[in-house]
Amino acid sequence: MDNMQNRLEKYLPPAEGEQKLLADAMRYSVLNGGKRIRPRLLLLAFEMFGGTGPDPEPFMAAIEMLHAYSLVHDDLPALDHDTQRRGQPSTWYRYGECMGILAGDGLLHQAFETVALALNGSAYPERVSRAFYVFAHKSGVSGMLGGQALDTLRSEMSVTERELLDMYGMKTAALLEASLMIGAILAGADEQIIGILEQVGRKTGLAFQIRDDILDDPSADENAGSDRKNEKPTYVSLFGRDAAQRKAEQLSCEAAALLNLIPADSDALAQMIREMADRSC
Ligand code: IPE
Ligand code: IPE
Ligand code: MG
Ligand code: MG
Repeated sequence: MDNMQNRLEKYLPPAEGEQKLLADAMRYSVLNGGKRIRPRLLLLAFEMFGGTGPDPEPFMAAIEMLHAYSLVHDDLPALDHDTQRRGQPSTWYRYGECMGILAGDGLLHQAFETVALALNGSAYPERVSRAFYVFAHKSGVSGMLGGQALDTLRSEMSVTERELLDMYGMKTAALLEASLMIGAILAGADEQIIGILEQVGRKTGLAFQIRDDILDDPSADENAGSDRKNEKPTYVSLFGRDAAQRKAEQLSCEAAALLNLIPADSDALAQMIREMADRSC
């Protein structure tokens, strides 16, 4: 993914001048590892529909910056209080809590600035502004941010399966939905297909978060356990590892079946969805 690293780097502020520390913390949060799932999904969706239209690259960078911001704030002491991320010190743990908060804010602003610049003078203003709306909507109160708020509120309460999956749908699936939808919107896919991809993103995102719960289960990995430390209800804590694994597999099969409804070559996307459900890190 070196290519993706270069693509992201271009859109980040340079680590120099008066704002060197803030820019350093922002760059560390994005460039220091990460599977780049969201920009890869966005690009696969764009290519699936012919790959002509506005350059998807600013949106790829923006969705990864937005995701990185969500992780930086997720690790803060007030949220999950995690000192490690991607096997390295989390941003707040390395740069201090103030810079952790501000670096997250900085990435959120940088993401929106990047998308706004893509709209400026675009030859495809309708596609880009529609994609801009999806980006904002899926990342805000109705999407990732709202899910994080529910996650925090529910940390010590019992939840039903439906409530847990609704929360996962917001905190995790919303950005995957946005990635697929934005790729398709930029390539000029029609509304019905964009709706199918939204469902694919939701099922893929639910499977992905359940897999994340399995990987964070301390009975399997002594370095894991953030959820248990925070007394978070997870799919594993409610239903056990085996049921969680079965649910993740079922959801990713359903996502793959939905892809078959789309009259385009979806093999590469189907392959990636399978990899996401099988991941071991
Ligand atoms: C981690 O996302 C947080 C969840 C939404 C489960 P990723 O697993 O995509 O994080 P990185 O970017 O690859 O570290
Ligand atoms: C992360 O959820 C979701 C977002 C940051 C939006 P978790 O708190 O379960 O993810 P990890 O395990 O810290 O990556
Ligand atoms: Mg969390
Ligand atoms: Mg966390």
